[in-house]
Amino acid sequence: MPQSKATSLVILDDEANILSACARLFRNEAFGVFTTSDPQEALRVIGTQDIKVVLSDQRMPVLSGVEFLKQVKDKKPAVIRILFTGHTDIQSAEDAINQGEVYRFINKPWQDEDLRVVIRDAMHRYDLTEENRKLYELTQKQNEDLQAANAQLNILIEKEKAFTSTTSHELRTPLASIKMAVDLIAQLTEGKLDEETARYLDIAKRGADRLARLVNDILSLSKLESGAETLKLELFQINEVIKEVAASQRLVAEGKGLYLKTDLAPGLPAVKLNADKINQVLNNLLNNAVKFTNQGGITVTSRMGREAGFIEVCVRDTGPGIAQEDLGKLFKKFQQLANSDSQVSGTGLGLAICREVITRHQGNIWVESQVGQGTSFIFKLPIP
Ligand SMILES: Nc1ncnc2c1ncn2[C@@H]1O[C@H](COP(=O)(O)OP(=O)(O)OP(=O)(O)O)[C@@H](O)[C@H]1O
Ligand SMILES: [Mg+2]
Repeated sequence: MPQSKATSLVILDDEANILSACARLFRNEAFGVFTTSDPQEALRVIGTQDIKVVLSDQRMPVLSGVEFLKQVKDKKPAVIRILFTGHTDIQSAEDAINQGEVYRFINKPWQDEDLRVVIRDAMHRYDLTEENRKLYELTQKQNEDLQAANAQLNILIEKEKAFTSTTSHELRTPLASIKMAVDLIAQLTEGKLDEETARYLDIAKRGADRLARLVNDILSLSKLESGAETLKLELFQINEVIKEVAASQRLVAEGKGLYLKTDLAPGLPAVKLNADKINQVLNNLLNNAVKFTNQGGITVTSRMGREAGFIEVCVRDTGPGIAQEDLGKLFKKFQQLANSDSQVSGTGLGLAICREVITRHQGNIWVESQVGQGTSFIFKLPIP
């Protein structure tokens, strides 16, 4: 047997001629064999080397094969244990197998080829089990890593939300003072200021208004996200909300030379909604449509959903449209598309708020658009 072969098989028998016959039988195998008639010696080798299979005689002077294999099991449970038996030992061998102490037994005298097959099969089984065990451990480890990373991420997300929410709250009071002071100065000095000072005052006023809107949007979104705000839902005709919002946005649209049409399906079932929040959603969508469209106009449609059990509202414009690769970004916070008009103001929170509100209504919102073909924002709400 070449020295380089790693020993994988241990054979224990009190008869020297059996040991030498076995050594001969496995001489040409890929694995090395260690033979001994001393159980302590066998256990030592099993404890110190990567042994895969142990073959033990049942009848030995000091202890039985089953007892010995029990000790092997305690030491290295993965090792495959095989018992050599004579006719009279068959009952105890079967018991040992049934109790899970022994993988299988081989009757003496054996056929060389049978023994070879049994040992090769046992080696193969050991390798497979080990491979499975390693894969399992790896998956466990990866799972644990993933869970730890996830937990860490959740902590960070919570911290970020708490931070945004507190800072926005803190900003509110000083901002209200600034707005009040600026409004007061404007009132007190009306008609008395020179053109330049009036212009600066106007810049300050618009800046304060814009900041107030932003702070309100952030607070409104963080309240929705945290679930702190319970949305009160009431049965409502969606067309009524649309008419109200359309009336207020029509002036803005017409001021830009755009039309604003409504095409409302009659007799739609009432849906459970929070009128203020749906108003906010429609306002954001119409505001965007008017803001990004320079020619043509906007059509708001209500209809039964393409999916049964829902009504659908669609805000369609004849604006520039949105590139395919940008569609996925729109509903994320602070997303404003690079190519959108830099003159156009906004913070990129409008659609994030829309999505949060619609989701809280068990509905869904999405966008359909192509560059040059205008844009449609559509949301659906469940019919109760
Ligand atoms: N109708 C539309 N046509 C073309 N692009 C649009 C349209 N609606 C939204 N977008 C794009 O999606 C971006 C995000 O819209 P969103 O309403 O979230 O933010 P915003 O309008 O820029 O700011 P805010 O609504 O917070 O004032 C816009 O900046 C714009 O690039
Ligand atoms: Mg917007």
